[in-house]
Amino acid sequence: MHIDRYESTFLWLATGMLILFAGAILISVFGLGIQLPTIVDQIAPADVAAAPGFNTPGVREVFPGHYEAYIVVETWLFSPNDITIPVGSDVTFFLASKDLIHGFKVFDTNVNIMVIPGQISEVSHTFNKLGDYQFYCHEYCGAAHHTMTGVVHVVGE
Ligand code: CUA
Repeated sequence: MHIDRYESTFLWLATGMLILFAGAILISVFGLGIQLPTIVDQIAPADVAAAPGFNTPGVREVFPGHYEAYIVVETWLFSPNDITIPVGSDVTFFLASKDLIHGFKVFDTNVNIMVIPGQISEVSHTFNKLGDYQFYCHEYCGAAHHTMTGVVHVVGE
């Protein structure tokens, strides 16, 4: 079968790009550990304060080395905004907003998620290095948006 040289070139280029992009996805997922944040459940903003987990916001150990952090998000506050965990901990963050769209980004990690009113957002990270990891809101939410911050202290055991 005769294929025109230009057509053949474009077919090879297109095939090469497909292989390149598929490779980039595989490296992102398995090499860099990039994960898509998930929405685990729906929640009305008015119900956040009374919802299980969010009615007692904070960090708790669910089994050795694994923690759950329930964070209530509102203008312009994360509750809690000061979290301490031992180094090596795997932390699953659950966040829910009581009012506007906010963001949750933890410096030097892949944790970066939107907190949309009406939804519970979930994202996990293993903190293998000691240090203070600042987190902040990355969705503009009004006059004091820039003050909406917190910190995860990763300490020695
Ligand atoms: Cu909350 Cu910006």
